[in-house]
Parts: sequence; structure tokens; C-alpha cells
Amino acid sequence: MLASLRTHQIVLASRPTGEPVAANFDVRSSPLPALGNGDVLLKTRYLSIDICARGVMEADRPDGASIAPGDVLGSGAICEVLESRAQAFKPGDCVLAHVGWQSHAVVAGRDLKRKLHPKVAPVSTGLGVYGLYGYIAYCAINEIVRPRAGETVVVPSAAGPTGAAAAQMARQHGARVVGITSGANKVAWCQALGMDAVVDRLSADFAAELANACPQGVDGFLENGQRAVHRVVLPLMNDLGRVAICALPSDGEVAPGLGRSDHLPALLEQIFLKRLSVRGFTERDVLRVHPQQLVDPRFVADMGGWLREGRMQYREDIMHGLEQAPAALTRLLRGENFGKLLVALD
Ligand SMILES: NC(=O)c1ccc[n+]([C@@H]2O[C@H](COP(=O)([O-])OP(=O)(O)OC[C@H]3O[C@@H](n4cnc5c(N)ncnc54)[C@H](OP(=O)(O)O)[C@@H]3O)[C@@H](O)[C@H]2O)c1
Repeated sequence: MLASLRTHQIVLASRPTGEPVAANFDVRSSPLPALGNGDVLLKTRYLSIDICARGVMEADRPDGASIAPGDVLGSGAICEVLESRAQAFKPGDCVLAHVGWQSHAVVAGRDLKRKLHPKVAPVSTGLGVYGLYGYIAYCAINEIVRPRAGETVVVPSAAGPTGAAAAQMARQHGARVVGITSGANKVAWCQALGMDAVVDRLSADFAAELANACPQGVDGFLENGQRAVHRVVLPLMNDLGRVAICALPSDGEVAPGLGRSDHLPALLEQIFLKRLSVRGFTERDVLRVHPQQLVDPRFVADMGGWLREGRMQYREDIMHGLEQAPAALTRLLRGENFGKLLVALD
């Protein structure tokens, strides 16, 4: 084994109240264990920065996902194999691993989820369009929204990794796609992707602009933003519309022009009167249906083909250096990212 290698880690120092600040994190250097039979030594090349990293900093989460002060922040990563005592891996392989915010790790080869091949697409895409985010979009569109030609599908966070992939897939099905995003640059990129209309969620007339962009109503909706746009979209839904809930808007968020009162009766009325189908989709679906996470062969083949043929566009927003991970999370929470947010460890 490479002599006395250490890993640099970012750990939770204290639980944030509101937006995390630098004092909530510590940098730590720890020795790595020796490689046992079946183990591999990994060097992190890219970290995925995910919104759920903020949620798990809360104590006593009902799903048991809370981390404690002193714990390394969790996340998926693309890693290079430096040394291997597992038959399936050799030095130089690129793998998807859940090592969290750290520079190196020793893991059991049997826990590694997927090898990435740069001939298909840059390996970093294994954390975005060719990874969990693209896969959420793939399942939401193909299993829940199931768009038919001519139908209207609304996609929030349309410039993000899930939204942009979902919008392009819905267009492949012949649907008319209305994207929701923020700011002129993201609007322009969504238009360049071929979305039929793009609405800025920060516009003072957001609700009216969205209604204008959907003259035939809405047949499919992917709730994928942090802002509760469903209160604006659901009244536009057509009978027998399909809603995929891929993200839960943060507490207290309200759509422009709507108050903070209890929206449940209005929500149930929309579902009842229009006979809507509403289904949540979380990472747990991925694990339940595909225990070998992210190796669903249909997704790997379809998305790999689209990427190779240039039929799936994506953006990455890359910051450099492990110590940038907390700042990257802040950018993501503020919605300042433009594309899949990654930290590269050069
Ligand atoms: N179901 C699952 O298993 C699963 C797994 C991972 C992530 N997710 C969810 O999928 C969604 C997309 O994730 P992502 O990491 O790829 O996000 P992202 O789209 O890269 O970034 C989050 C986006 O949310 C939008 N946003 C809307 N309202 C916002 C607000 N009030 N403040 C800040 N941002 C706001 C912004 O996009 P615009 O500027 O374009 O509006 C922002 O860029 C997230 O909501 C995440 O929680 C779900």
C-alpha cells in the first residue's frame, strides 16, 4: 500500500441554524486503514454536492438520516482506484462510490456501484445526467409522467441536472415542454435545449406567465424545484394528468401571490376533481427496484446512447478543491448553481 496515506475530510463541526456557515465545518486529516482482501484504495476526483446534505445536518430526522458533529458529510463521488485487492478492479479504474467529502478512502470492492468509462461521456456525468439525477428524470418521465405526443409537460429547475434531462426526454416523446427556471442565462440555455416555452420563477407575474405558456393546460408535471410551484401548476392540470414528486419544496416556501395557509384542501380538490395520478419518487425507489444502484441496464444503455450521439445536453458547474465543498453547498441552496454542482479534487 502507498506508504502511510491519509485522507483529508470535511466534517460537521456544529449543526447550522438556517444557511450553513464556515464555522459549521471542520477540516480533518485521518489515517487510512490498511487494505484487506477485497478492498480498494480510492482517490476522489469529483464530489457531488446535493441539497440533501443540508437536511441531514438536522438532528433526529424521521428517516434516520441525520449525521452528528464529527461525522464526514456524505455524498456520492467519482473516484480513481489507486490500489486494488478486489478482483473486479484495477488501478486507474473510475468508479462511483459513496465516500462523502474526503480525498481518499478504503472501501470493500463489493460495495462499489458502478465503473465509469470516459469513452461514453466524461466520468463526472456519473454524478449527474448519467447518474442519480438523470436516472430520477428517466424514471419520472417513463414510469410516472408517461407523456404522449402533443401533451404539455411542466418541468421546474429546468436548467438543473434532473430538470434538463427530464425536459429533453419529454420532448423525445413528442410532448410540448414548459420549463421553469430563474435568470436570463438559465432561460436562454433552456430555450437552446429546445424547450417550447420557459418561464422565470422570479418574475412578478410568474403565475400568469406560466398559465399563458400552457394554453392547452398541463398533462404532466415533475415537481422538482425547491419552491412550491405545484400550487401554481396544479390548477392548470388537465383531467387525468400525472404528477411526479421528485423533490419536496422546503418548508415555508410559497408560490408568488399565495399565502402560507393550509393548502391541503385545495390540493386534494385538484387531485379529486381532475382524477390526477400523483406519485413520489425518491432515492429509496432506486435502491428498492435496483439494489445494484444505478446499474439499471435500460438507463445505462439509453442514456449512454443519447450522450454518445449528442442527443442529451447537460451542464456541469464545477468548483475546485475539497475545501470549497461547504461554499458549493451554499451556492446550491441559494439556487446560484447553473448545472450539476460538483467539486473537483485536482
Ligand atoms: N428524489 C430524489 O431521490 C432526489 C435526489 C436528489 C435530488 N433531488 C431533488 O431534485 C431537485 C433538483 O436537485 P439538484 O441538486 O439537481 O438541484 P439543481 O436543479 O441543480 O439546483 C436546485 C435548483 O432549485 C431551483 N430553485 C427553485 N426554487 C429555489 C429557491 N427558492 N431557492 C434556491 N433554489 C431554488 C434553482 O433552479 P432554477 O434557478 O432553475 O429555478 C436551483 O438551481 C432538488 O430539489 C433536490 O432536492 C431529489
